[in-house]
Amino acid sequence: MSKTIKKENYFPAILKKQAKKIKPQLIIPYEYLFSNPKGVAAFNRLTESKSYWLSSDSALIIKQNKNYLANLLKDYTIVEFGGFDGSSLNDVFKSGQRFRYINIDIGKGILSMMKNNFSKLSNVKYSLIKKSFADISFIKKIKSTRPKALLFLGNTFGNFYPKEGDQWLKKTYQLMDPGDLLIIDFDRRVSSDKHLKCYSVKECALMLILAFEDYGMPVENLHSTFVMDKDGIHGGVTVLKDFTLDHKKFKSGDFIEVMISLKSSPVDMTKRMSRAGFKTIKQLQSDKKHMIQLIAKK
Ligand SMILES: C[S@@+](CC[C@H](N)C(=O)[O-])C[C@H]1O[C@@H](n2cnc3c(N)ncnc32)[C@H](O)[C@@H]1O
Repeated sequence: MSKTIKKENYFPAILKKQAKKIKPQLIIPYEYLFSNPKGVAAFNRLTESKSYWLSSDSALIIKQNKNYLANLLKDYTIVEFGGFDGSSLNDVFKSGQRFRYINIDIGKGILSMMKNNFSKLSNVKYSLIKKSFADISFIKKIKSTRPKALLFLGNTFGNFYPKEGDQWLKKTYQLMDPGDLLIIDFDRRVSSDKHLKCYSVKECALMLILAFEDYGMPVENLHSTFVMDKDGIHGGVTVLKDFTLDHKKFKSGDFIEVMISLKSSPVDMTKRMSRAGFKTIKQLQSDKKHMIQLIAKK
C-alpha cells in the first residue's frame, strides 16, 4: 500500500444519509475503481463478503436459473459489459454446451484473470474487447453468425444516472439487431439502512480511496465516503484539507464522486426498457431477492 494512504483515510467509511440530492464537486470516471491492481484485489475479496450482496446475489440468480440460462444462451454470442474475470456465468458454462463469450472491459489485468477463469472451461470460446461500455457503437462491428445477448450483470448499469441510463438503453436498442437480447441486473428498492450496509465493508472504502490516488489526488487529504440521497448511494471521498488539482480548488467538506448505485423496481425498469423499445420476456431472481434480472428482446 502506498505510504500516503493511512488506515483512517479508508476505514471505516463514513456513512451519511441525506434526503435531498447531493451535488458532488466533481465526478471522476467509474473505471478508476478498477484501474489499480490493489483495488481489483479488494473487489475480489469484496465479492466473497456476505454484506456485499450485489455480486453474490447476481451470481445466485444465475446459479438458481442455470438450466434456463444455459438453454437460452447457447444459441447466442454472449457479450458482457464489465464482465471482470468472466466468471459470472460459470454455472451456465459448466452445463458443458458450447458457448461464445465476449467480455467488454477496460479494467487492468482482465485478460490474465479471464485466462485463469476459463482454463477449466474448454467449451467456452472467449475473447476480450478493451473498450468502454459507455459508448458501445463498436458492437455493430462484432462479427457473429448467432444473434447477440448483451449482458449487464451485477449493479453496473445502476452506476448510470437515470437520464444517462435511458440514453444508453435507447442507443443500445438502435445498435442491436432484431432478435438480439439484453439482460440487465438491477438492485431492488431496499431500506436505506440495508442499502448502506451493503457498502460498509472496508474493501469498498479502500477501492474508493485507491481510485482517487490513481486519479492523482492527494489522498492524505481525503476520506472515503458513501452518501445516500434520493437517487441512491454515492461513493467517493470527502475533502479533509483544501488542495488544488489542475487549477481546480477543492475545499474541506467537498464531496468528490466516483460511483453511484441506483435502486429500482421491476415496474420502473420494465417501463424504462419499454420506452427504449425493448420487450421484456422474462424476470429472474434468486431466493434472496435483492437483485432482479430482466431479459428483454429487440
Ligand atoms: C463491479 S465489476 C462487475 C463485475 C461482475 N459483472 C459482477 O457482477 O461481479 C465492474 C467491471 O466493469 C469494468 N468497467 C468499469 N467501467 C467500465 C467501462 N466504462 N467500460 C468497460 N468496462 C468497465 C471494470 O473494469 C470491472 O471489471
